[in-house]
Amino acid sequence: MHKSINLSRRRFFAKTGAGLLVGAGLPSWLQAMEGMSEMPKKAPNKASPNFHPDVEIDLLSKPSTISILSGQPTQVFQYVAKLVKGPANTVTEIPGSYLGPILRFEKGQKIRINFRSELNEPTIAHWHGLHVPALMDGHPVYAIDKGQLYVYEFEMLNRASMNIYHPHPHNLTASQVYHGLAGAILVNDQEEQKLGLPDGEYEIPIVIQDRQFDDNNQLIYASHMRDRMMGFYGDKILINGRPDFNLDVASRAYRFRILNGSNARIYKLAWDDNSPITVIGTDGGLLESPVHKPYVMLAPGERLDVWADFSGRNVGSQLVLRSSSFSGVLPKMAERMMGHAGRMHQMGLPVGSDYPLLTVKVTRQVSDSPALPNSLSTYHHYQISDTVNPNKPVPIAISEGPMSMLLNGRPYAYNDALPSERIPVNTIQLMEIFHAHGGSGGHGDDKSKEQGQGMQHGNEKPQAEGHKMGGMGMMGGMNHGNSDSTEGGGHKMGGMGMMGGEGMAGMGTMMSMAHPIHLHGQSFQILSRSIGAAESEDYATVKDGFIEGGFKDTVLVMPGERVKIIKPFQDFKGLFMYHCHNLEHEDMGMMREFSVE
Ligand code: C2O
Ligand code: CU
Ligand code: CU
Repeated sequence: MHKSINLSRRRFFAKTGAGLLVGAGLPSWLQAMEGMSEMPKKAPNKASPNFHPDVEIDLLSKPSTISILSGQPTQVFQYVAKLVKGPANTVTEIPGSYLGPILRFEKGQKIRINFRSELNEPTIAHWHGLHVPALMDGHPVYAIDKGQLYVYEFEMLNRASMNIYHPHPHNLTASQVYHGLAGAILVNDQEEQKLGLPDGEYEIPIVIQDRQFDDNNQLIYASHMRDRMMGFYGDKILINGRPDFNLDVASRAYRFRILNGSNARIYKLAWDDNSPITVIGTDGGLLESPVHKPYVMLAPGERLDVWADFSGRNVGSQLVLRSSSFSGVLPKMAERMMGHAGRMHQMGLPVGSDYPLLTVKVTRQVSDSPALPNSLSTYHHYQISDTVNPNKPVPIAISEGPMSMLLNGRPYAYNDALPSERIPVNTIQLMEIFHAHGGSGGHGDDKSKEQGQGMQHGNEKPQAEGHKMGGMGMMGGMNHGNSDSTEGGGHKMGGMGMMGGEGMAGMGTMMSMAHPIHLHGQSFQILSRSIGAAESEDYATVKDGFIEGGFKDTVLVMPGERVKIIKPFQDFKGLFMYHCHNLEHEDMGMMREFSVE
């Protein structure tokens, strides 16, 4: 085992002018906070002679160029795939897109994927949403270097659903996804097959992403600390890798398979003519029956299966899918203190503003259209009584500080499970996701309180760093109100020293933002959401946009919100990550592992 140094971190610090600190050696609390913990490296998995695949794919990640805007092509990273064995529709390219091809699998298939990389940095592919053994899950400890091969072998255990493949290397996930490494996985099964839902040209994958380009059409990525604190936002919406996306349709029903593939941006999907959005499925597949919503919130990593019926519409008519306005997902502190700069930073497309995503044009009249089934799927609804810990939910405590975002009070470290993060295999667990400081009042059981708050007390006092790094003295729970250490940094981080007097709860509330929390492994069900009264005005702008009752692997947790979920941990032992799917947060260390044992 050798240790690898963290490239992205180095690059990031170099860019922000904090590079000097790296050479000088950062204090350990800062290293931990910034996710600079070292990552061991394990040998890549090899093909097993006893595994007989139904489907085999060669998958490659490589630097590439592609025309996105008119003029100069854009440098990207790209997944390319070649079908070695299996049905011809297993691999479908998206013409003109940097996105990886759509991978289609059947439940029960045995799948082998031979993954190689031509990137000059470590990478590993993760199958977001799939229930696979730990060794096949794309854990960063298995990241490969240029020229290496990692062989994945697993059986498709998932029910019909849309999933994602994307990289998961230590601290490099956000930038690799941003530069193009992502693709959709569609799983089919017999239950879904029987429904006769729109397919072929009537089933449209829609991957929503936002990007920023420079004058030479090259991607601009995070360069400020605030890009990491709030996540990185582009000012241009791309659908399936293309700007100004138009879809020509016939006057009939379509199935839209929507995926938020953005690093940080949260959308509030709505049709511009105010017709309801008909949702037939979520992350983990079909709902029991369709639901009609005025709008639907879609956070990074989440998927949505939408029945889009254009029958009865005239040729020439248009419908726009928009992200409509909402508030309350970014920290109040950022809104208040960054003010103009904050908005400038989001350029022409502030988070929560109203803007178009794609335009549908009816170009063909057809006479028949499939009917929306009343009943889509049958499955068990988890009850509290199914869980082994009805009175003691596994805590997932979100804690937020000016320079750090943590889960259960700790930054990511490999194989570092807390007692509450050790899960007996083949159990069904009640879990509770909540903000550790402030918000909804009440802090769960004592244990989670301890984990959420007690471990943040770094002992080393910030000194000179405070100057450059903008008052880091305030982060990570070291809320000593030491204004000396923060004044120098005031200009970069907006005078965090001001927060000193407000204490933990005030700080928590001011820094609180929405986080899409993703758990690897099997899908879960949402048991309940509750929200403190303080957030109700903002909350009112999003609350009708959550889909309950289906299977999820990523759930948007609003400021002040507590979300209870029930999740099975069946079949596989090992380390399974859980993290914020705001990818900048993930890379900052807002990630932990469950050790299933
Ligand atoms: Cu979509 Cu751990 O990732
Ligand atoms: Cu995942
Ligand atoms: Cu987050």
